[in-house]
Amino acid sequence: MKRLVVVLAAGQGTRMKSPRAKVLHPLMGRPMLVHLLEALAAVKADKTFVVVGHQAEEVESLLLPYEAVPIRQTPQLGTGHALVVCRQAIEAEGLAEILLVAGDVPLLPVGDLVSRWDAFSAQEAHAAVFTLHLPNPFGYGRIVKDAAETLSRIVEERDASPAERQVREVNSGVYFFRSPEVFSLLEQVGSNNAQGEFYLTDIFKILHGRGAPAATYEASPPERWLGINTQAELARTTRLLRMDILKRLMAAGVTILDPESTWIEPTADLEPGVTLHPFVRLCGASRLEADCEVRSFSCLYDTRLGAGTHVRESCVLEGTVTGKECSLGPFCHTRPGTVLEDRVHLGNFVETKKSRLGRGVKANHLTYLGDATVGADSNIGAGTITCNYDGINKHLTVLGEGVFVGSDAQLVAPVTVGDGAYIGAGTTVTKDIPAGALAISRVSQRNIEGWVEKRKSRRVNEPTSQREKKEPEK
Ligand code: UD1
Ligand code: CA
Repeated sequence: MKRLVVVLAAGQGTRMKSPRAKVLHPLMGRPMLVHLLEALAAVKADKTFVVVGHQAEEVESLLLPYEAVPIRQTPQLGTGHALVVCRQAIEAEGLAEILLVAGDVPLLPVGDLVSRWDAFSAQEAHAAVFTLHLPNPFGYGRIVKDAAETLSRIVEERDASPAERQVREVNSGVYFFRSPEVFSLLEQVGSNNAQGEFYLTDIFKILHGRGAPAATYEASPPERWLGINTQAELARTTRLLRMDILKRLMAAGVTILDPESTWIEPTADLEPGVTLHPFVRLCGASRLEADCEVRSFSCLYDTRLGAGTHVRESCVLEGTVTGKECSLGPFCHTRPGTVLEDRVHLGNFVETKKSRLGRGVKANHLTYLGDATVGADSNIGAGTITCNYDGINKHLTVLGEGVFVGSDAQLVAPVTVGDGAYIGAGTTVTKDIPAGALAISRVSQRNIEGWVEKRKSRRVNEPTSQREKKEPEK
């Protein structure tokens, strides 16, 4: 018997009040649907179908790595209709069991599902639904049972009587069905309800009427099974996932000084011995080797730090790779394509982009290095700027090893500076500099003796009327 998974992801998610389709909303950096697809890989289904509708192209683009097959549902006439549109594709698979999941439960504990699936396969029941007990069941379909405690129907919030609204056992939106049988049941489902939709949940009343009630399984722990319908619920689920990640990392030897304010996305990878200060964010495919320390208000995006690297306060590091024992910040901005070899120092207000800085390079203050290669042990003075852009094209700046760049130098690219060369402070470099040479381009200084005294006396001799205009007396 084949095992198939169907994910319902066609709805707009009107309660999110957002122009974006619900399943595309990011949960710690990745769309919520991606979290679910990743978790569902553990069920090892023969095939996974995803029902798409709202912003279908965008949702479909997420499915490729998971070999999930999109099925379009337009218009979206309800959860029952969403399964009906899969009928042809599913029946083509022959006899099958279906796990049906809503697309808005990204933290679903899939491990437990697998053992439940084995139990369902061994059972007679035509269908099964996972239910949870909630102190506040508002918004969920309520589980209505008969005197024998078997499932007689599921009633939606808007269709429920006051007594039914008191029921605290609710439908999680996760079910097992058997194909093709489920489709003949769906043929009998109408849309005579408060929302005018074809409710998947109406199947359960039909089964009960036939004396073949569906099984109910306890969904636990309940917080992992809760769907995301509103922005507040998205924030609640984000918090759960965020704490899961932090707990896992702390258990593995990462020091997190203030878990309440630390944000580490599930795609980040940290070695034991890393220390994170309050208000640090590590995003995307960031990777920190042992003994790295990241201080407050620094954000890393897809950035890899070599062992023993220190990032001080308020740095933004994007698409950057560092060697061992580098020191960055405070207030550094490294942009994509930055490669720092071992023991590079970048200080306050230094920006880099598509640049490779050799071992031991120092750029400690107020510098922009773009499209540059800097050889080992070079020293970049305060206020150095690579002028890499001529308004149309970008050009390269190449510095050899052991180059000394004086403060406030501009390097007008393309330009090459040989090993060991010196560049005088205030120089605008427009020509290549040979190894070992000093380049200096500034107006030579002249001193005018006694100028200050002369200026003062000139002011005293001016007519008072003019002086008052410039500097009214106090
Ligand atoms: C549904 C259940 C409710 C259950 C709850 C659990 C029904 C009628 N109600 O309600 O009993 O307690 O889930 O979270 O099933 N979708 C489609 N096509 C559609 C309609 C919905 O693909 O035509 C998708 C949505 O994108 C979503 C999922 O189905 O991922 C569930 O839809 P949603 O509107 O969130 O259902 P609920 O009102 O929460
Ligand atoms: Ca829902």
